[in-house]
Amino acid sequence: MKKIVFGLSILVIVVLSMSLRTTTNIEGLDEQTTVWSVLQELGTPAPNHMPDESVNGASAERGEQIVISGITSKPTGGKIGKQSNHFVCTSCHNIQKEDPDLANPDPEARLTYVQEQGLPFLQGTSLYGAVNRSTFYNGDYEKKYGDLVEPAREDLREAIQLCAVECSQGRRLKDWELESVLKYLWTLELKVGDLALSEEELQVIENTSKTNATEANKALELIQSKYSQGAPVHFVKPPEDRKGGYGLTGDPVRGKLIYELSCQHCHEQERYSYFSLDDSKQTFRHLAKHIDRYTRYSIYQVARYGTSPIPGKRAYMPQYTKEKMSDQQLEDLRAYIESEVN
Ligand code: HEC
Ligand code: HEC
Repeated sequence: MKKIVFGLSILVIVVLSMSLRTTTNIEGLDEQTTVWSVLQELGTPAPNHMPDESVNGASAERGEQIVISGITSKPTGGKIGKQSNHFVCTSCHNIQKEDPDLANPDPEARLTYVQEQGLPFLQGTSLYGAVNRSTFYNGDYEKKYGDLVEPAREDLREAIQLCAVECSQGRRLKDWELESVLKYLWTLELKVGDLALSEEELQVIENTSKTNATEANKALELIQSKYSQGAPVHFVKPPEDRKGGYGLTGDPVRGKLIYELSCQHCHEQERYSYFSLDDSKQTFRHLAKHIDRYTRYSIYQVARYGTSPIPGKRAYMPQYTKEKMSDQQLEDLRAYIESEVN
């Protein structure tokens, strides 16, 4: 009898401690679990861009319409005035995952990936996962926007406003519009499945005891090592000698992808620009002729410096940073243009 009681109590203790243990673990992790919900369970403080529920009339649906079409319905009825006369947010930003490895954003891997996914290849970083980043307009953007970058560096709301005015050449968003865009961006947050965790790493995270600070920290570091906390930014220059270019051999097949997935995203049938880039010989000849010149029609010039906006007046072209187009890719584009001339 004593033995049975002893045996039973051991069993009870084991079962109890097992259940205690599971309740302090990260439960029910799967591909669709949001990264933020895991970080939250690990005790990470909330970022300063959680949606503000006290703002009336804000919704993710309205935010999505603003991002995709620049207009939406007012909470009080009627339509808002267009955010920008020149662009919509998706002129320059994808809203899907665009980097196969989120920890190492790389334009070569991205080009292949966006082609497979049927997405464009753009100057702005994807808005997918923006809420999971903690710094914005990083690196050299300070050179372009100066003091304007300061409030936006660690504040997603300000980053959106900066882009609405400076990148989009439009107006600032009203409070409820801004909260709507933010709510929409929260629907684009990273999922565990985006992080390319190995089976082992997943287990480490699942077995983490939330009450053990060391373990929780380790899990946090592991998760954060899987995506970039802020998109890196380096401005680069056209080659010194535009005739010789960057001294790399271009691949016209890759160049065609850039032409179609990037340049034509804005320039085909004058979608976002009055300057049309079609597939005619005439167009390629025009581009080819200017490659080594110091004019605004040189691909080196426009890709690396963009064109300047005349505030409120017209659209401009954002430059490609090193992270958005490598020197090799620019040579690939050149090779494609030159191969289409004859
Ligand atoms: C004409 C091009 C263009 C348009 C239009 C545009 N953006 Fe941007 N945006 C950029 C570029 C270029 C950056 C520079 C930083 C980056 O994305 O790497 C940027 C940066 C951002 C950032 C900070 C990203 C980061 O991680 O640093 C956010 C957020 C953003 N834009 C949101 C928006 C929203 C919302 C809209 C629409 C209201 C919009 N943008 C319209 C080009 C554009
Ligand atoms: C995000 C949209 C966008 C993308 C992508 C883009 N451009 Fe542009 N581009 C513009 C806008 C807007 C202008 C300004 C001209 C205008 O007013 O229409 C411009 C201007 C130019 C000009 C100068 C034309 C002039 O009249 O001054 C050239 C050349 C050019 N782009 C080539 C390219 C090439 C080549 C690519 C691909 C590597 C490319 N663009 C990608 C939007 C874009």
